[in-house]
Amino acid sequence: MTVKIGRNDPCWCGSGLKYKKCHEAFDTKLETYRRKGVPVLDRSLIKTPGQVEKIRESCKINIAVLDYVAEHIKAGISTREIDDWVHSVTVRHGGIPAPLDYNGFPKSVCTSIDDVVCHGIPSDDEILKEGDIINVDVSTIYNGYFSDSSRMFMIGNVSPEKERLVRVTKECMEKGLEKVMPWTPIGNMGHAVHQHALSNGYTVVRDIGGHGVGLEFHEDPWVSYVSEENSGVLMVPGMIFTIEPMVNMGSDEIWTDEDDGWTVRTEDGLPSAQWEIMVLVTETGHEVLCW
Ligand code: MF3
Ligand code: CO
Repeated sequence: MTVKIGRNDPCWCGSGLKYKKCHEAFDTKLETYRRKGVPVLDRSLIKTPGQVEKIRESCKINIAVLDYVAEHIKAGISTREIDDWVHSVTVRHGGIPAPLDYNGFPKSVCTSIDDVVCHGIPSDDEILKEGDIINVDVSTIYNGYFSDSSRMFMIGNVSPEKERLVRVTKECMEKGLEKVMPWTPIGNMGHAVHQHALSNGYTVVRDIGGHGVGLEFHEDPWVSYVSEENSGVLMVPGMIFTIEPMVNMGSDEIWTDEDDGWTVRTEDGLPSAQWEIMVLVTETGHEVLCW
């Protein structure tokens, strides 16, 4: 049940202003789109300025953790060591690694090498070697607020083919980011990601997407990176979601390891890359909160 706010009541966003001087016009605009049949997000998932500040604090830790990984990652270390770094740096900053025990995930970070698309589980037996490409996907809970981002790392000298995959995947994320504008549909973002991958001869994973994030680890909307233009939910100021395309060198077919229940691999064994950022939709465009 929602109680209608009076025009002279304090705004729901916590600004302290009267509703009529604050988000009334926003709500009316949102309602107009909804009536026209445009999918819009539930207002409970549109972040207030106060929530954005809390989420920003969580993001700072996530960035610091990935910066630490960037400085120390090299051939010869195990992915289990990366897990130790992520756990200790997160806790030192007062955070909690979000993946740990999330739906039974056994470690604090996902480490995905070469043909592993995502959700790789760190292991003592997995030693990084020259020529590997690895995605390190870090997520943090801080004071109850969530952040989530991932980067690719190239270990020593990497083949030109893999280097190109890593670079183009980052470009895909950036092309998508350019399309993040308020009052436009999120499908434009996913379409731009997909087009850039296709024009470089790659495919984009369809079955796993991005997500809203901040108050929970994974919130609505589910985000596709193979979407059509003019489709999907309307991006509105205060919305936060991830851009995290998984781009494959070969086919977009993937499979999940039944032994561990997590590790996702490419069907053809060819490499896959992923970069992930967290984006806030603003009044005038967007702001990257986490990378
Ligand atoms: N960080 C991943 C994402 O981008 C989710 C990992 S879930 C886990 O959404 F349990 F595997 F950690
Ligand atoms: Co994510």
